Amino acid sequence: MNLRNPPEKFVEPGQSARLAGHWVSGVDLLLICSALGTPVFVYSEAQLLKNIHRVKDGIRAAGLEGRVSLYVPFFPNANPHILKPLQAEGAGLLLQMPNEYDITTRHGFSDFIVSPGHVSNEEIGFWCKKGYRTFLASLDEINFALNENAPTISVRIDSLDSDKPGIKVGQLADLSEMLKAHDRTLECFEVYCGSGNSLTDMVDIVRKIFQIYLDHFPDAKAINFAGGHGFDYEKWGEQEKHFDWRTYFQQIAKLASEMGIPDTVNFLFEPARDVLADTGVLIAGVKRNIVTHSNGSIVVTDGSRMLMPSAQLRNRAHNTVFLDSGFREINESENATSCKIRGRSILRNDYILPGEVSVDNSVGVGDHLMIMDVGAYCATQHMEFLNVPPAAEVVVDINGIAHLVTMPGDDFDKWRNVLPEPRLIAGSIPDSRESRIA
Ligand SMILES: Cc1ncc(COP(=O)(O)O)c(C=O)c1O
Repeated sequence: MNLRNPPEKFVEPGQSARLAGHWVSGVDLLLICSALGTPVFVYSEAQLLKNIHRVKDGIRAAGLEGRVSLYVPFFPNANPHILKPLQAEGAGLLLQMPNEYDITTRHGFSDFIVSPGHVSNEEIGFWCKKGYRTFLASLDEINFALNENAPTISVRIDSLDSDKPGIKVGQLADLSEMLKAHDRTLECFEVYCGSGNSLTDMVDIVRKIFQIYLDHFPDAKAINFAGGHGFDYEKWGEQEKHFDWRTYFQQIAKLASEMGIPDTVNFLFEPARDVLADTGVLIAGVKRNIVTHSNGSIVVTDGSRMLMPSAQLRNRAHNTVFLDSGFREINESENATSCKIRGRSILRNDYILPGEVSVDNSVGVGDHLMIMDVGAYCATQHMEFLNVPPAAEVVVDINGIAHLVTMPGDDFDKWRNVLPEPRLIAGSIPDSRESRIA
């Protein structure tokens, strides 16, 4: 599919300031949706590259080149085809499960760090053998790794004292004693600091992290600042939505020098949301004209909250655009209605987005809903509840060519592991159990 010259199909010139310059205005959605139907997630390689370049430019401008490594977490998008361009950009992946290692290595990835959460000794052993920096999340897990003489020890610290896996701040002195008792030092520590933080918050967090280094782990070779960099879902302009990486890295360089952090200490970052969110849109079909009843008005779509459950769960008000059957934007006139965006299942709460959206009264059967900024924490969270199959995923590459990278789920996806007939578990017949005991 060649999508090089289609924009006039999509938005009339001068019609939409909101989408002006947005990558989706250059994509032939008519062609993609005719081929695959809806719902469908569409991603842009060009936008992913733009986003990673924004981060790298900030690193360069602050004079931190060579001192900073980027590891984009795999799980918030979890599609190796979509993340592939990161490899050529020198960005690695953050993994948290052994199956992620299997799928990403099959797709040629090899530069990893690992933040596994709380895991068994066997799984710690698995990652130790692979040799990647693994950020362990409790004193117990670290104790095991120390007793096993693990070649390198890194830890994950939960700076918020939240329920996320991680050593709590009150345990840092114990951790430092434990390392001393084994005559070991930390290779690196990762600090979880929540999500969606402002620039000011993130700079304050850096100050606290440097203080942790100075107070507890002055021999560590590297500091991992993790993610948490804010992305504003409610803005339209690219600059307004994205985190200000340039000022952030400048502040880090300044603080490092003021606080006496040695130049030999390297910095790691794990940005997901800011690098991935606006690389994706979800297109759903509108299946009825606006329905109004005693509980308000709804737009009926073939989408579902099961396709991207965390928008509802986290109250994330993604921007929306309505498109007509030819995928031209439907501009809102004075005749608009505030509507909830209904998914296709019977569930009371099957609304794809939280709250209501203003919908032009002309929107109806055959039109489309485009949900913006769905590149992180969306398709990867698909739920099979209510038997909703996952949506197809398409990547539009740097040359404007569209590629199907995830087949839409078929109607029997939910039951793919259900056996045609029950299968006997060996030894479970009472007689054979007795003979085993005897
Ligand atoms: C360990 C770790 N690193 C990075 C991230 C990504 O954070 P963000 O999406 O805020 O960039 C997360 C998100 O949960 C995380 O748990």
